[in-house]
Amino acid sequence: DESLAGGDDLAGRRLLISAGPTFEDLDPVRFIGNRSSGKMGFAIAAAAARRGADVVMVAGPVHLATPPGVRRIDVRSAAQMRDAVLGALPADIYIGAAAVADYTPRTVSAEKIKKTREGGGETLTVELVRTHDVLAEVAAHALRPRVVLGFAAETNDVERYARDKLVRKGLDMIAANQVGRAGCGFESDDNALTVIDATTAHALGPAAKTALADALLDLVKARLR
Ligand code: CTP
Ligand code: CA
Repeated sequence: DESLAGGDDLAGRRLLISAGPTFEDLDPVRFIGNRSSGKMGFAIAAAAARRGADVVMVAGPVHLATPPGVRRIDVRSAAQMRDAVLGALPADIYIGAAAVADYTPRTVSAEKIKKTREGGGETLTVELVRTHDVLAEVAAHALRPRVVLGFAAETNDVERYARDKLVRKGLDMIAANQVGRAGCGFESDDNALTVIDATTAHALGPAAKTALADALLDLVKARLR
C-alpha cells in the first residue's frame, strides 16, 4: 500500500487546506469561537506532505505543531481565513477542513465591553452578520482547483444535509461527520466520515484521524485522474 509506505504518490500536486476554528472578536478580550480542534485538518496536511504533495495549510487558532513539510499560514478570523485561502490559489486540491464561523459581530468594540454601560447592562445584544463562504468561493473561483472537498459537521440527518451542501456549494466531494457524539468528532483523536460525491457514498472509520486522512486522500487522488 503506497499510502502507508509514505511514498510520493502526490508528488507534483499542490494541496491547499484550511484547518481549525476561527475566532470572531467582540472586544479586545472576548471572542465567539467553536469547538474545532484542528486535528482532522492537521492530520490530512501531514499525510499529504508525507506523500509528497506541496501542502499549504491555512490554520485558525489552535495549539498544534506544524506537520513536517507543511507551509502554514496562521489566521484568526473568518475574514482572514478567506483572504489567506484565496490568496494561496492556484492549487490542484482544496480541502475545507476548517470550522469557519458563519457569523461575525457587526462591530468590534475597541474597548472592553462593560457591564456597567449605558442602558443598565442586564442583557447584552450582539448583532452578527454572515461571513463569506470560503469553500463556495473556492469552488466558484476562476482558479478553481481540480478537486474541491468540503466537510459537513452535522448533529443529525448527516447524509441529507451533506448532500445538500455538495450540490449547493458546487463541490466534488464532501466528508460528512456526526458531531456532538461521544468518542468522535471535534476534540477526539478518532472520527468516522461518510465521503459523498454525486453518485457514491464511502464510509470511512471509525478510526484514528491519521488513518482516515490517508483513506480520504486515496479518494481525492482517484478523482485527480
Ligand atoms: N465553510 C467555509 N466558509 C464558511 C462556512 C463554512 O468555507 N463561512 C466550509 C467549511 O470549511 C466546511 C463546509 O463549508 O468545509 C461546511 O461547513 P458547515 O458548517 O458544515 O456548513 P455550512 O455551509 O456553514 O452550513 P451550516 O453551518 O448552516 O450547517
Ligand atoms: Ca457552518
